[in-house]
Amino acid sequence: MRLRLFILALAGLALGAIAALAVLPGARERLFGPGPIATIGQALVGGPFSLVDQDGRPVTDADFRGRFMLIYFGFTFCPDVCPAALQLMAAAVDKLGAKGDQITPIFITVDPERDTPDALKPYVASFHARFVGLTGTSADIQDVARAYRVYARKVKDETAPGSYTMDHTSIIYLMGPDGRFVTHFTSGTPLETMAAQLAKAL
Ligand code: NI
Repeated sequence: MRLRLFILALAGLALGAIAALAVLPGARERLFGPGPIATIGQALVGGPFSLVDQDGRPVTDADFRGRFMLIYFGFTFCPDVCPAALQLMAAAVDKLGAKGDQITPIFITVDPERDTPDALKPYVASFHARFVGLTGTSADIQDVARAYRVYARKVKDETAPGSYTMDHTSIIYLMGPDGRFVTHFTSGTPLETMAAQLAKAL
């Protein structure tokens, strides 16, 4: 009888330790290996930000409460992946018709050095009239990238001596009216799939 109690106590301790590990950031990867970002947990993607829009106005995440944010991180000099993602976002929002007005498409630069408000303004407008372009200080951009688990790194541009390009994560995030992560897409998500999933989330 005593042995049984002892074994039960040990089992309880082991379960407790696993549960404690599982709630630590990054523990999921340690326990189960890397998985799709949607399964990592809503709380771990997103967070507060304090940036500047394409008109030079200060903007925070709180300004978007009550609306859906469709967010993509990239840079205006990006030759192909960023434009494809932004085109997809704009097309998906338009495909929803009037319902799409609940979603604000947002482009956050990972290259604040070149992507000033003046550089962002014509760029985002070329994709959608309601596109918001956000930039900030290097520290502000680093903070928001970290919050969204976005990786971005400056690399030498082999095609243009003396210039640079950016390696960066290419994920489109849908954040809910409460600012929390809802789901994500990639620049390769088919338009129909994305529009259908957005419609379901609204
Ligand atoms: Ni890009």
